[in-house]
Amino acid sequence: MYKILVTDPLRQNALQIFEEAPDVHYETHYGLSEDELIEKIKPFNAVLVRSATQISAKIIAAAENLKVIGRAGSGLDNIDVKAAEKKGIKVLNTPGTNAPAVAEMTIACLFAVARNIARADHTMKQGLWEKKAFSGIELNERTLGIVGCGTIGKSVARKAYALGMQIVVYNRSRVEMDDVPFEQIGLDDLLRRADFVSLHLALSEETRGLLGDRELALMKKDSYLINTSRGEIVDEQALLSHLEKGHLAGAALDVFCNEPDYNKQLAANAKVVATPHIGAVTKESQERVGVRIADLTLEFLRSKYIFL
Ligand code: MLT
Repeated sequence: MYKILVTDPLRQNALQIFEEAPDVHYETHYGLSEDELIEKIKPFNAVLVRSATQISAKIIAAAENLKVIGRAGSGLDNIDVKAAEKKGIKVLNTPGTNAPAVAEMTIACLFAVARNIARADHTMKQGLWEKKAFSGIELNERTLGIVGCGTIGKSVARKAYALGMQIVVYNRSRVEMDDVPFEQIGLDDLLRRADFVSLHLALSEETRGLLGDRELALMKKDSYLINTSRGEIVDEQALLSHLEKGHLAGAALDVFCNEPDYNKQLAANAKVVATPHIGAVTKESQERVGVRIADLTLEFLRSKYIFL
């Protein structure tokens, strides 16, 4: 029997895969503390997480039978991958499966900041009709700067191009995208040229704090920042200061340096549209990531190990 522990909620169609597998015993235990997980994990061969569970080096050290850590999603920043690899534990994730949801969220963020949708809705709910306060700008013919051009970045580029936007991208390796005209340029150049800068990078030591005070200062006056990737890529204090002093026109932030204990001052700023890391949270995406990670995990265990 393969023993699988699920520590963040997965959709029923993913759990169904384990229920129907004759060689699987699975348990769901959500909201465990690090100490509880250290105790719980010992007999399990696989642990499946989303973004809430932190799989620390201490948990990995205590995991006597663990062969695989499965992350339903793409970011691996809640897993100590180095500690896992050192112990020969495979780390699996589902890059790309969230892409349609995150790309659509990014487009929603572009419209939200350009047309003041959240603030206008808020005033309507207060019984006000403030038509003059919410003059927006059009996306058509504006320049979108895409920082990080993998699956999600490319999908955003295609959708934004269809909306009439001009696309510039910054990416470490060469970007191939036949169906969208774009320019690949340096980061500083992109920040100086884009009316909207959208981040689509994984969090790593290289990308942490990539947009600090210097970089935000390079951004065009009255431009907007969209972040649906990871909060830690942006210096939140510097961002707040550039919004407060009127250099940046606004920001749409779906991610924060600390989650769920997010920067309340930043989220409360009138120029910020804030959402609680819901970029990948669609019915379709949650089903896809759950099923994919369940399949990958089982496939990996079955191909490498036989537990009786
Ligand atoms: C991901 O890394 O897959 C997304 O940011 C979604 C998430 O972490 O829940």
